[in-house]
Amino acid sequence: MSSQEIFRTAMDVQQTYIEKVREVLSARYADPPRALVQTYGCQQNVSDSERMKGLLQQMGYVFTDKVEEADFILCNTCAVREHAEDRVYGNVGALKHHKRARPDCIIALCGCMMQQQQVADRIQKSYPHVDIVFGTHALHRLPELIWRRLTGGRVFDLDAADERIVEGLPVKRDSAFRGWLPIMYGCNNFCTYCIVPYVRGRERSRTPADVMAEAFQMVEAGYKDITLLGQNVNSYGKGEDHGVDFAKLLRMVNSIPGDFRIRFMTSHPKDCTPALLDAMADCEKVCGHLHLPFQSGSDRILKAMNRRYTRSDYLHLVEEARRRMPDIALTSDVIVGFPGETYEDFKETLSLVEQVGFSSLFTFIYSPREGTPAASLPDPVPHKEKVAWFDELLAAQEAIGRKNAEAVRGKTLLLLCEEERRPGLLAGRADNNRVVEFPGDASLVGQFVRVTITEPGVSMHRGVLADT
Ligand code: SAH
Ligand code: SF4
Ligand code: F3S
Repeated sequence: MSSQEIFRTAMDVQQTYIEKVREVLSARYADPPRALVQTYGCQQNVSDSERMKGLLQQMGYVFTDKVEEADFILCNTCAVREHAEDRVYGNVGALKHHKRARPDCIIALCGCMMQQQQVADRIQKSYPHVDIVFGTHALHRLPELIWRRLTGGRVFDLDAADERIVEGLPVKRDSAFRGWLPIMYGCNNFCTYCIVPYVRGRERSRTPADVMAEAFQMVEAGYKDITLLGQNVNSYGKGEDHGVDFAKLLRMVNSIPGDFRIRFMTSHPKDCTPALLDAMADCEKVCGHLHLPFQSGSDRILKAMNRRYTRSDYLHLVEEARRRMPDIALTSDVIVGFPGETYEDFKETLSLVEQVGFSSLFTFIYSPREGTPAASLPDPVPHKEKVAWFDELLAAQEAIGRKNAEAVRGKTLLLLCEEERRPGLLAGRADNNRVVEFPGDASLVGQFVRVTITEPGVSMHRGVLADT
């Protein structure tokens, strides 16, 4: 049996469970039952939730955002930092009252946090109102898991070994014009602070044919902003024999006729090749924005983090990107207070930030993750001091942002209008990922519009529709 056939079978099996669940639900509820899906973490989780919503819809659920009226609650969790986990524990704890009021409601937890044994054990012991627990590899089996709960006791399904990519899942996307397109899953990099490789498994890529089929469908359905997703998108195709790497895939998606933009995230500097930068520069639909996490400006810390590039490698990449695309917007992730980091190391981070001039930064204070190598390193710097460094970094970035923002005053940008924030006030996103607010009519939502910037800001600009 080819791997393609195995994937088909996996979804065929679920199809029978979808039918069975539908039958039980229609006997149990007069009106369609309501599902609430709460998503934590990164776009990968958002994309996974959209697929699980597709399955729920097929099982006969409609959607709600109110806990009080939910017959099914799915919480898709993130484990990347302690804070993310604490929020999940808090919210899941609070669902106890809902379960008491509505004992028929099924509460399910899934996602990265559930891939950790100690978490699953804690849920089993201390959160008896949780009905179903499953990990990131089991999302396509949601119909089967709901069926098992409807016909039996609590379900714990944490088979981490299953790393196949299952194709053919239905998708219920949150937006009608901005969509996520997962192209690869997992991570092989094992940065020493990071839990992702443990909870998401090894890198594996969808076939170019599957990616292209979904991209075509999205363009046909009117999607105007498509983000290719992966923990390391630029590792796409590694270890596969189809010969399509990420640079080539970008060119393939770019060749689809239509009026749409292409974004991608996240790229790892070690796999950011000249061929990828060339493809970005050549492809007119690919946005002029590169999210390239550097994590630290100190070579000593980069080594301890197992990032596999140096400060000068990173700066060279920035130079290469800007040589090809002078207006490219660069954004990045950075961690403050990695175990053993000194103020001298931190100063190197600060100077890299000043040297590059990022258009925005996602800044994190190091959070120890059980089971990662960094969690057992000595970490003598007190939290209070790390917070002071963090604030220094924020202030530096704020000053850079303010200076950069001035440069766009009076410029006219092409935006994809994304939402009406209040009656008559719209918000859209520019090619460089910057959000702009402007007055306009709600009928423009989902359209490309030209807006002239009147008030540049650090995290958001304001503007007015251009006359053209
Ligand atoms: N695969 C992506 C994103 C990983 S998670 C990448 O490699 O860039 C997103 C960000 O969270 C990371 O870039 C890192 O900056 C941060 N992060 C990951 N683990 C962390 C930890 N233990 N403590 C603090 N920040 C962390
Ligand atoms: Fe985590 Fe590093 Fe993999 Fe990103 S590349 S997901 S930071 S291990
Ligand atoms: Fe969190 Fe998992 Fe994404 S740990 S950041 S949801 S891959």
